[in-house]
Amino acid sequence: MTKGQKLLNWVDARFPLTALWESQWGKYIAPKNFNFWYFFGSLAMLVLVLQIVTGIFLTMNYKPDGTLNGAGIPVAFASVEYIMRDVPGGWIIRYMHSTGASMFFVVVYLHMFRGLIYGSYKKPRELVWIFGTLIFLCLMAEAFMGYLLPWGQMSFWGAQVIVNLFGSIPVIGPDLSLWIRGDYVVSDVTLNRFFALHVIAVPLVLLALVAAHLMALHEVGSNNPDGVEIKQQAKDPATGIYLDGIYSHPYYTVKDILGVVVFMIVFSVIVFFLPEMGGYFLEHPNFDQADPLKTPPHIAPVWYFTPFYAILRAIPSFLGTQVWGVIGMGAAVVIIAFLPWLDRSPIKSIRYRGPKFKFMLVLFIISFIGLGILGALPSTNARTVIAQLFSFVYFAFFLAMPFYTKNDVGSEPVPARVTETNTKRKVRFLVLSLITLVGAVLFAMNV
Ligand code: HEM
Repeated sequence: MTKGQKLLNWVDARFPLTALWESQWGKYIAPKNFNFWYFFGSLAMLVLVLQIVTGIFLTMNYKPDGTLNGAGIPVAFASVEYIMRDVPGGWIIRYMHSTGASMFFVVVYLHMFRGLIYGSYKKPRELVWIFGTLIFLCLMAEAFMGYLLPWGQMSFWGAQVIVNLFGSIPVIGPDLSLWIRGDYVVSDVTLNRFFALHVIAVPLVLLALVAAHLMALHEVGSNNPDGVEIKQQAKDPATGIYLDGIYSHPYYTVKDILGVVVFMIVFSVIVFFLPEMGGYFLEHPNFDQADPLKTPPHIAPVWYFTPFYAILRAIPSFLGTQVWGVIGMGAAVVIIAFLPWLDRSPIKSIRYRGPKFKFMLVLFIISFIGLGILGALPSTNARTVIAQLFSFVYFAFFLAMPFYTKNDVGSEPVPARVTETNTKRKVRFLVLSLITLVGAVLFAMNV
């Protein structure tokens, strides 16, 4: 027995380290037909870690202080400039964190979309989905509060607009927004509490939710692109595992590493060459310090909030209150959690779904992207009408789901076994590897 094994045995006798590794990954049996869409769960974990690590280093030089320094610049704003210009390596840490925020949403939106097309929210994975929706909510809160910290014009006015929205809630509204801000306007007090929530409170909740998300998933087992429940299959006498199952390790460890490499290439290209992403990842007005006396001409949230912001703006005030827009925006997020019960079809994967679901899904995708674009633009009458139409489709996708999914069957029945052949998988792997290699070479030549 090697020294390493001895040490592991010593630990295992006192803490279930090997048992934990095996139940959560090492011996976790997953369907063998995972495809491109299954990269994004592990990538979301990667970005989560990246955000926490870069965040820790940012905190070492950032100052959550909204008061003015001797030069008339808010201390928080000046500390970000200091990180960018004077702290060794500060610029890369900050760009990794700001790029990471946007990439987190890219990855999570794709991850959620995978759940949608393969029906991964359906029985028995309802709790996996609900934990996911809670993660999404937390992520939005985390991004919103983090965005205030650089104390630029958009930080200040974005927070001002969003916190004011709570003021339109009947009875408790004005007190609620005052309570959130801790002041009559967004101020140093607000900055301090958002800092506390952003660096510790919400990340802790996020980590706990991700742990619950994965434990729930590993309890019921993963879905797959065919929507076949592998746990209902017989076990292969030779291997002792389900016929269409394979061990996550080493098979999906290797696959996920490929995803990580490709992701890191894309991520690095953005960090090194396009950190502002044309004003979408870092908005231009945020390069000006916060000025409570100067409202920017066009206040827009960062791109990942724009679909929901467009819904908010699309709903007109009614009975003298704007609260309907706020309710609409909240409902647009919360309704996602109800998918497992709105969808009445027993068919999970889009591959075997009927035409009605596919049609509604296409409309939904167009509306969601359309709302995202509209939410980033200043509103005009015509844009408001289009946003109203898209908002209607957005909600119709969910609310009409019990009806259009009820008897909607595809041309092919759901197979008993997963369908992909080994050759197909090998070819795909080769192509992906080749792309990775070419990408890596190009990247190395540029740096
Ligand atoms: C920090 C954010 C998140 C992390 C780190 C994360 C992590 C993961 C991981 C590692 C997996 C297993 C690998 C995979 O299937 O890709 C997974 C599966 C899953 N996640 Fe997430 N997730 C996050 C957010 C979400 C959100 C927002 C939702 C939906 C609202 C969601 C829904 C699901 C579902 C349904 C599965 C099972 C998929 C299947 O078996 O087909 N996740 N997640």
